[in-house]
Amino acid sequence: MNRLLFVASEAFPLVKTGGLADVAGSLPAALAAAGVDVRLLLPAYGDLLAGLGAAPEVIAELDLGTERVRILQCGLPGSTVKVWLLEHPLFSARAGNPYHDEHGAPWGDSAERFALLSRAAACIATRDTPLAWRPHVLHCNDWHTGPAIALAQLEGAGPLTVFTVHNLAHQGVFDRTTFERLALPGVLWSEQGMEYYGQCSFMKAGLACADVITTVSPSYAREICAAPGGMGMEGLLRERSDRLVGIINGISTSDWDPGKDPALAHNYSADTLDAKRLNKAALQRELGLAARDDVPLIGFVGRLVEQKGLELLLPVLEAMLELPAQFAVLGKGDPRYESALRNIAAARPDSIALVLDYNEDMAHRIEAGADMFLMPSLFEPCGLNQMYSLRYGTPPIVRAVGGLIDTVTDAGTREAPAPDGTGFVFREPLPADLLQAVQRAVYYWADRPAWRALQQRGMAGDFSWQRSAAQYLEIYRPAFD
Ligand code: ADP
Ligand code: GLC
Repeated sequence: MNRLLFVASEAFPLVKTGGLADVAGSLPAALAAAGVDVRLLLPAYGDLLAGLGAAPEVIAELDLGTERVRILQCGLPGSTVKVWLLEHPLFSARAGNPYHDEHGAPWGDSAERFALLSRAAACIATRDTPLAWRPHVLHCNDWHTGPAIALAQLEGAGPLTVFTVHNLAHQGVFDRTTFERLALPGVLWSEQGMEYYGQCSFMKAGLACADVITTVSPSYAREICAAPGGMGMEGLLRERSDRLVGIINGISTSDWDPGKDPALAHNYSADTLDAKRLNKAALQRELGLAARDDVPLIGFVGRLVEQKGLELLLPVLEAMLELPAQFAVLGKGDPRYESALRNIAAARPDSIALVLDYNEDMAHRIEAGADMFLMPSLFEPCGLNQMYSLRYGTPPIVRAVGGLIDTVTDAGTREAPAPDGTGFVFREPLPADLLQAVQRAVYYWADRPAWRALQQRGMAGDFSWQRSAAQYLEIYRPAFD
């Protein structure tokens, strides 16, 4: 059987802060369904362990040289994938977010933590271990796992290495003193390895050393080969562009299915869109918004960070409330954005509901209850929420960037609709352009038959992993039988 070790710092439903978890929880499942023997390696974070029903089985102890770590095994719900949890006090002795403390400050020992994850991954992938299982392919994700790629490459005849970039905005850059604490081989401190302008970059290790680099949409693959999208890595990525492939993410069509979603008050499909309106009424009640069916409800769910276009939204949000339209905003993040939103919401409680929290079920209810979904990202490697929106009959309003432009087709105007449109796209990163796109959507919404056709076109799209998993299999093929 073809063996794949898939390594990530988060995977839904075990631990999630964003889209990486959705992908790491659903792509391995799709690959397993296609016949691959997949193991998903994750850190055994304190909260993850606490959330498991039963204590996971200890299946091996690995000798990493400077320390010994245990591998625990559990299942990935809804799939045949075996999850291997790397147990070490660096992970297990701490509750909370994997990357930062409750004030949003990065944990001081992130380098140590993810170097350990990388060392364990490389050990499993290249050595004879008590696990007695070596993969044909080592597939790592984002900076947390970059050194695993470099370490596997140092071993020579190791597995095929694949490194997927989900977001170049986070590169895992640390100083020399930190590097020296990481028990990584000194040779990695080189231009061909992790060294980056006198510092060490975990992301660069993956980009420089992987046999194949992938990223999560074709447009983002192009954007990162130039400034500003490459965020300093554009030179290296251009050099390696013959190894770089953009593959659009799929979504879990079982976790995100309006017909079966247990978080919703009323399930619905493209043929029963009237039931979607019941979800809108339920959401308005839940969030304390005025019960109105004559104005569109616009949803936003996401991390409140610069990437998500808060600088475009905040200057025109009050103007949007005059349209008329209602807003349901669910997010958590930068305190600056949280307080700016709080001020606007306090002045217009009947028109904007703000929930500064992380709430998986509410995210589903906003996707279902909103009429349209806002995603004005400055950059977006792929984006999953716009695909969830399309599937939930909630046309997205997006900026023409990264995975957003690869998944959403502009619907034109109410007077001149585009026959294949699925959402509303604006080009320039300007608040006025965002406002115009929202105005266009709100005006379009009032033409109910046209709006329904738009919803149904989006809902008919195929966002499953089928096609994208096949593209990954094609990449793995040289190492597989
Ligand atoms: P990113 O990975 O950049 O955050 P994506 O669109 O790829 O963006 O994925 C975000 C994922 O995280 C989606 O599943 C979204 O529903 C979820 N999410 C983000 N913020 C929240 C929140 N505050 N509450 C619930 N879910 C959230
Ligand atoms: C990142 C990106 C997002 C992408 C997700 C999964 O967090 O910001 O665009 O959808 O990874 O690949």
